[in-house]
Amino acid sequence: MALEIQGVTAGYTKEVPILQGIDLTASDGLVTVIIGPNGAGKSTLLKVIYGYLRASEGEIRHDGVSLRDQQPKDMLRHGIAYLIQGHSVFPKMSVEENLELGAWILRNDRKAVASAFEEVYERYPRLKEKRRMLAGVLSGGEQRMLEIARLTMTGPKTLLLDEPSVGLMPKLVDTVYQEIARLKEQRYTILIVDQNVRKAMQIADYIYVLKLGRNSHEGPREDIQPRIEAIIREWI
Ligand SMILES: Nc1ncnc2c1ncn2[C@@H]1O[C@H](COP(=O)(O)OP(=O)(O)OP(=O)(O)O)[C@@H](O)[C@H]1O
Ligand SMILES: [Mg+2]
Repeated sequence: MALEIQGVTAGYTKEVPILQGIDLTASDGLVTVIIGPNGAGKSTLLKVIYGYLRASEGEIRHDGVSLRDQQPKDMLRHGIAYLIQGHSVFPKMSVEENLELGAWILRNDRKAVASAFEEVYERYPRLKEKRRMLAGVLSGGEQRMLEIARLTMTGPKTLLLDEPSVGLMPKLVDTVYQEIARLKEQRYTILIVDQNVRKAMQIADYIYVLKLGRNSHEGPREDIQPRIEAIIREWI
């Protein structure tokens, strides 16, 4: 069931709708990728799912539960974690403190926080080594890894990732995609917005193309990949 979006219309003001009737499903345990030209509304869609923006029409469900009237603070409880576009580490805080922020909904349960740390440090031994360092002195790639690790602190089911590899040098881009592949093996449901169409194509199970706030193309990777050059040419 996972994440189902039906007929979602939303915008930042009443006068200018950005998303106009978007339909999308991110199936359990699969990687669903959203691509599209700049300004298509890809980031806006993730903001609507996560409750930063309200849909004026349409429905959003996660495991059958409506998210329409939910707020960002409710999302971890619904099992959804979100990597916003751009940098989100707190540079003046330690690696450990950054991770702790990912577990704030567990803050009253010290045992749960301790076991969240244990699991995350097992999966990210480099972060464990550097846990006392200020996050701001980590390399760009390590900071991105910290951001991703932070998302997994409360054991969410679904990850929303907005441009997870943007601004990284090519070698680190590969590391991020390897990490996403690893998260997929761990059965997370993953919805990614990506400009890096070639990389996204390698890990996608299903692809949606958005254009000017509407669905433009969609299909399993096998269908979209052979047509991708032609699809991108339509954007220009
Ligand atoms: N905070 C905001 N207030 C008003 N308009 C906004 C805001 N954020 C985005 N927009 C507008 O919404 C439209 C869609 O933007 P959005 O960021 O969703 O695009 P995108 O597909 O993620 O693009 P990119 O690939 O450049 O990240 C754009 O026209 C943009 O100008
Ligand atoms: Mg965007």
